Amino acid sequence: MKKKPFSSSEYQAEDWVSLWKPGSDKKKLIKLLQKAALALDKADKNQAEKALLEFVGAHQYFPVSKTDGAPLAYGTNIKDFFNGELNRVVERFSRTVVSEAKAAEKKVLISKLFCLIGKYQDADRWAENAVKTDPDLAEGHLQLAKTSRIYSLPEKTIECLRKAVDLTSDRADYFYLLGDFLQVCNLDQEAVEAFNEALVRRPDYSKALYGLCWSLRRLGRVEEAVHAGEKAVQLAPNSHTFFHLIYALLAAGKNDAAIKRCHEALELNPMDPAAFAFLSTALYETGQYEEGRSICDFENLLKVMNISPPPGYSSLASFNQSLVEVALASPTRIMDPTQTNNLFLSSSGPFYDFKDTINRVVKMYYDSFPSNFSHPFLSQKMENWQIDGWATRLKKMDEQEHHFHNHAWLSGVYYAKLPGGIGRGGTEEGCIEFCRFRPYSASCSESEVELATIRPEEGLVVLFPSYFYHRILPFNDNDYRISIAFNFIPEF
Ligand SMILES: [Fe+2]
Repeated sequence: MKKKPFSSSEYQAEDWVSLWKPGSDKKKLIKLLQKAALALDKADKNQAEKALLEFVGAHQYFPVSKTDGAPLAYGTNIKDFFNGELNRVVERFSRTVVSEAKAAEKKVLISKLFCLIGKYQDADRWAENAVKTDPDLAEGHLQLAKTSRIYSLPEKTIECLRKAVDLTSDRADYFYLLGDFLQVCNLDQEAVEAFNEALVRRPDYSKALYGLCWSLRRLGRVEEAVHAGEKAVQLAPNSHTFFHLIYALLAAGKNDAAIKRCHEALELNPMDPAAFAFLSTALYETGQYEEGRSICDFENLLKVMNISPPPGYSSLASFNQSLVEVALASPTRIMDPTQTNNLFLSSSGPFYDFKDTINRVVKMYYDSFPSNFSHPFLSQKMENWQIDGWATRLKKMDEQEHHFHNHAWLSGVYYAKLPGGIGRGGTEEGCIEFCRFRPYSASCSESEVELATIRPEEGLVVLFPSYFYHRILPFNDNDYRISIAFNFIPEF
């Protein structure tokens, strides 16, 4: 098969989730956008392409944790930050390229730009077009894999990724993306093969090593998983590598080693939620029950509060009604139609008012502890934070696994609307359940898990450390249960 050379061997395929992180270098992005617009005014397509390529490269991507889909809410389409200017430039650039039969690379770029402005149908169409124009352009297949993933087409995504790796022989990052997606599809054996191919090409590729660690663990090959995880940590000691290694150590029953690694992770980042979540169970498993219990101290760290309606609302019911209207009218995430995107980016309306309220709730949370109460969670007190939050609109919930929010420090949920049966009577359907001593290995006993359930009420806020495992208990109703989840992400 014909191989296409790449312009730069340093080129890195970007991560999957192309959501922009507010806080990216906006000044640089504005400059590049202006440069592209100017070049288009002068009909200088090459200069416009150069500036837009740099623009795409400068935007920050979100890492997506495997236990926590929440960062998807954190990002937003980049278009909102440019008052329509990015949309105009993308549309103009796409019009200049449409007639160029041989411009496959440019078509890939346009597809990426359409992703950034949230026009996924256009992005998909341009990726298809690029692949048709040049079936040997690996980057075209990679981009089509991305848009196919957005549309939840796993078979097509895998097929495109396989084509991309077939067309290149030296791209460790392409093999990594293939492995990563196979892992998402629970095809762990094939994922292991792809990660190993990535590692043959780049032995010090820590992401491929921790990906390998995750799949090997799920295949029950826990010793090999630990080995891969240890190598990843050795190469790049960070919260991601420690997360994968410690999970593997817990699955292998190596609880003492897990404790040691949790402490190392916390030394590196004292606000590492995963290290706290894992340490609690590891301590319990080594007979240090009270120590493990005190980390996940439901009795003290879990708080339930009632809020008052913000100024301008006659009652809590009318405030809730406003939140519900916005929540139901807001677009949802493509991959999860039950959840909206981040609603706390709005500059007016009920979510803007609510942001103010929950900022005050954080202060109330910290103030509620007596001065003689100490806990490592409270020692790492947030002074400044960003809020990331979304509405969850559910008429039913099937059995859900417990999860924690690995990108935040303090999390919460507010109940804006509850169907009649939820939170009332003897049933726990639709309630929020917290879990302590979650089992990680076959030798752990399910029966030792400790649970705490909170009954939701309209107008109630539940606040908890982000590392507390939790889930919504199953329910089925004819009406919406609308809750607003939020995370506080420390800013330094
Ligand atoms: Fe959650």
